[in-house]
Amino acid sequence: MANEQDRMERIVALAKRRGFIFPGSEIYGGLNGFWDYGPLGVELKRNIKDAWWHDCVTTRDDMVGVDAAIIMNPKVWEASGHVTGFTDPMVDCKACKTRYRADSVAHFELYEIWSGWTDPKNPPAMGLFNSLQPGSAEARETGLRFIAFLDVTDAELQAAVRRMLESKRARVVHVVEEGMLAEDSGYICVQDGNRAYWLGPGLVDATYRCLCGGGLTEARQFNLMFKTHVGALEDSSSLAYLRPETAQGIFVNYKNVLDTSRLKVPFGIAQIGKAFRNEINPRNYTFRSREFEQMEIEFFCHPGEADKWYATWRQARFDWYVGLGLKSDRLRLRDHEKDELAHYANACADIEYAFPFGVAELEGVANRTDFDLKQHQEFSGRDMTYYDDETKERFLPYVIEPSGGVDRALLAFLCEAYDEDEAPDEKGKAQKRTVLRFHPRLAPIKVAVFPLVKKDGMPEKARAIYEECRRHLAAFYDEKGAVGRRYRRQDEAGTPFCVTVDGQTFEDGTVTIRDRDTMKQERIQSESVLGYVREHLHL
Ligand code: GAP
Repeated sequence: MANEQDRMERIVALAKRRGFIFPGSEIYGGLNGFWDYGPLGVELKRNIKDAWWHDCVTTRDDMVGVDAAIIMNPKVWEASGHVTGFTDPMVDCKACKTRYRADSVAHFELYEIWSGWTDPKNPPAMGLFNSLQPGSAEARETGLRFIAFLDVTDAELQAAVRRMLESKRARVVHVVEEGMLAEDSGYICVQDGNRAYWLGPGLVDATYRCLCGGGLTEARQFNLMFKTHVGALEDSSSLAYLRPETAQGIFVNYKNVLDTSRLKVPFGIAQIGKAFRNEINPRNYTFRSREFEQMEIEFFCHPGEADKWYATWRQARFDWYVGLGLKSDRLRLRDHEKDELAHYANACADIEYAFPFGVAELEGVANRTDFDLKQHQEFSGRDMTYYDDETKERFLPYVIEPSGGVDRALLAFLCEAYDEDEAPDEKGKAQKRTVLRFHPRLAPIKVAVFPLVKKDGMPEKARAIYEECRRHLAAFYDEKGAVGRRYRRQDEAGTPFCVTVDGQTFEDGTVTIRDRDTMKQERIQSESVLGYVREHLHL
């Protein structure tokens, strides 16, 4: 398969073409950071949420759910620290007015020059020729210094490099670690005649400029919460926020849940719901959106057991993604350094996935200590302590929080599932095939049923099989076009099995059942289709 950027473009195109994901309010030109899920996307998303709820809530004795309001009393966000602390530093370009996150500025400068390059397709490896120290006088003298922003795509970066080097008639020919340029490790190789320049991360100084060449403002703090007003009056007394995380809806209900259930610490409360953040630079498709869904658990435990529960959840959440088909070599658990931890956490690990555009966070598992309950106790005046009637101890529980994003999980499952191979067409000629190899639990459609042709009683028989299947699982009926094309459409939707009624069905009662991944077909009795699908998909 072509490079990772190309792969990402194909995934985005497929998701649009097959009705997984559309740009939000597209007929009006869209709105940056907002996405809509189409018929297949909504099923996939529901399956992810159902799998999470089933595995984390339904099948556990120590977990219950809540569904809190999106708009909460604004004091919640004062107590949680979001009003003062949920900010990103931003800078504006004075010329083109583009807004960037200040902490995403990267400064590239010349590392190495090589003058014997003849083959544009094979850039020389780094380290083989004279190295310049980043920030050295020699490197600066070359004039090949520029600033890039981590929040831009490789294509934008390349275009900017091209503009910056125009005066030298240089051209960008190769980006090392495509899709990964946003990491510290990003290097760019530039060809100028038979000279090659390697550019790498440099030292940020006061001279940095926008990609357009314009100067930048000082960094200012920008609060990411969306504001609104409750009621008819639009003044400070009616100010409210769209929640930036679902977690606080759990903390404010912790006492309600405790008082109305038989739960004892340790126990958890789970919630799935929308969250909103006015991200400065939404990017990487749905990865960083302004409206998204979270799946969060707040697990309340004795402070003395917090380390144990943190380790348990850290591993359990990693295993959950592997169990649903993300390959463990594309996943990693990254423990935060002490200086990276959020103000409320004493430990945190990110579950990261190697997306085509780079390695990025899917979920965070944090030990939030008793920070939130303490804050809400102070701000609300309500007692948040827990009394253990066995040990006769009263304490504020510590909280372990596995916090994942539904949209990011969906994007990871989509990227992992995407594959291209070859399949024979009706004439037996090999043709390129696009297939989504979803885990059976996640596949939007589990089985598709076709009549081979639209006559001889085949549609009626196929419909009867379909009707039986759809009472129990997501099934699809299709009688339009050549059967080979119908198979391909289902491959693109990630449907694990296709069943076809043909002439032989009326002779011996069998139908063909085709496996999405192997493309092998076998004949089974028509009345055993449902049982076969359930058995093979473990549903
Ligand atoms: N309650 C803790 C919390 O909200 P977070 O790391 O800010 O922590 C948790 O968010 C998860 O929510 C992330 O791991 C990610 O999956 C998802 N998420 C956060 N911001 C997002 C955004 N702008 N777009 C899509 N998903 C996002």
